[in-house]
Amino acid sequence: MKTINLNIAIRYCQLDELTGADLELIDHAMKATDNAYAEYSHFYVGAALRLANGRIVIGANQENAAFPSGLCAERTAVFSAQANFPDQSIESLALVACNDNGLIDNPVTPCGACRQVLLGVEERYAHPMRVLMYGKSGVYIVDSVKDLLPLSFVDSSMK
Ligand code: THU
Repeated sequence: MKTINLNIAIRYCQLDELTGADLELIDHAMKATDNAYAEYSHFYVGAALRLANGRIVIGANQENAAFPSGLCAERTAVFSAQANFPDQSIESLALVACNDNGLIDNPVTPCGACRQVLLGVEERYAHPMRVLMYGKSGVYIVDSVKDLLPLSFVDSSMK
């Protein structure tokens, strides 16, 4: 039996180590938490993505009394971007989450379903998407969604 060691790169830094463009994206994600409709979980997630043309699109989680009918912040942002700007790849996506006490301590990381969707978008445009995940303690950064979803299922998995 062999062991397959995967090389996954996740950087960790403080806000003051980031460039202005990344700070701006995190700021938009933070503001987007105000648009979350999280009546049931009281977990307010904001996402902001930057398209290839520089435009920023935001998203926030939207909940429903029938739980599965709601949607995560990442997918509201990504689907809105694709519906409105289908020819634009996504360069970077920032993610922030607050609870009723404010910004959470550890960086929020995308749920499994969102990782699958983000990877699909990366594949669609054949362009890596950086993901910045922000919490009080710092920022995780990956340069590609592939680093969030090893052994993934994509188009080529069906060949
Ligand atoms: N949520 C997101 O918006 N993004 C994630 O990646 C994790 C979970 C939302 C879904 C739900 O509205 C709330 O957080 C609690 O799970």
